[in-house]
Amino acid sequence: MRLQDCHNFSDFRRMAQRRLPGPIFNYIDGAADDEVTYRRNTESFETCDLVPNVLRGVSEIDMSVTVMGQKLAMPVYCSPTALQRLFHHQGERAVAKAAAKYGTMFGVSSLGTVSLEEARKISSGPQVYQFYFHRDRGLNRAMMQRAKDIGVEVMMLTVDSITGGNRERDKRTGFAIPFKLNLAGMLQFALKPGWALNYFTHEGFKLPQLDEHVDMGGGTMSISRYFTEMLDPSMTWDDVAEMVRLWSGPFCLKGIMSVEDAKRAVEIGCSGIVLSNHGGRQLDGSRAAFDQLAEIVDAVGDRIDVIMDGGVQRGTHVLKALSLGAKAVGVGRYYLFPLAAAGQAGVERALEQMRVEIERGMKLMGCTSIEQLTRENLRFR
Ligand code: FNR
Repeated sequence: MRLQDCHNFSDFRRMAQRRLPGPIFNYIDGAADDEVTYRRNTESFETCDLVPNVLRGVSEIDMSVTVMGQKLAMPVYCSPTALQRLFHHQGERAVAKAAAKYGTMFGVSSLGTVSLEEARKISSGPQVYQFYFHRDRGLNRAMMQRAKDIGVEVMMLTVDSITGGNRERDKRTGFAIPFKLNLAGMLQFALKPGWALNYFTHEGFKLPQLDEHVDMGGGTMSISRYFTEMLDPSMTWDDVAEMVRLWSGPFCLKGIMSVEDAKRAVEIGCSGIVLSNHGGRQLDGSRAAFDQLAEIVDAVGDRIDVIMDGGVQRGTHVLKALSLGAKAVGVGRYYLFPLAAAGQAGVERALEQMRVEIERGMKLMGCTSIEQLTRENLRFR
């Protein structure tokens, strides 16, 4: 299968599956428990239909948006995700460059495999730094200071991962960092020598956002131990309010699902929230992000930028979310499978397809700018 054969999400997913060892593919593709929320995230876009207008003169299309003070050439950004160099040796470098080429924002995860500083140097686009809340408050401040020193635009705290989700596919394959593969897992690696060659001929695995601040036991501390030992389950709104004050720039909470929490985010001075269930990877059975969007926009949409992510695979999904009132949309697996399939060229192809789909969709909807997409354009079944 070649990159030219990839025309949509499923094609990229299939190409990634052919290239990646099973445990890595399943780490990306999998979600929590029975993966109900994961499936619902995409299915929920089919609960409503678009109602187009015609004859409106749509030769010039402007799909740019401004979100948390950042001007984006397209209303889709690359949500922060962990461990990208495991998927392809270019990892975050590829995503940073592709996002900049398409004039959009990208997120570097604190579990990223390329440093914030390097990502900053190779990309001209706006950068988000996503982190988790550590027991050690000094460490949280140090991480924010590091981001401030290099001019990261948006600080993002993920609040839906106070404990790890139950990822049963990872249990079955033995996927963990460092690797603790069972026999079946090892066999799956042996079956993908192309991936192994790509991975082992490039520099070793690092977590540069953490290595500088946290004693990862010389690489022996597992990510699951990091979550249980280093992160602070007693975190409250007061702690976050202090971080928002300290950052004093655009601050965003990722993983908000309820109206009550969205209102609290406004009260403590956040500039944005990402309405997200972490791609179904945390609390299975939680509502699909798109299903929850209208409620959240109605409650806080005039006071804070509401971004949503989860299940977005098509330009028309983006148009539906924007019509309901989201300011922008995040994607995770949508760019991770192309990254795994073909590195930067894959991510660029996926973003180009998204751009073309949004442009075509706007023309067919009779809209020349994002503001023209409203709830008048949607009907729920
Ligand atoms: C994630 N996500 C995530 N979120 C976050 O805040 N920090 C992180 O380190 C990660 N890591 C991560 C790894 C992988 C492999 C995936 C698939 C996802 C969640 C991500 O930012 C986003 O919320 C979801 O991916 C959105 O759902 P879709 O677009 O993948 O359906």
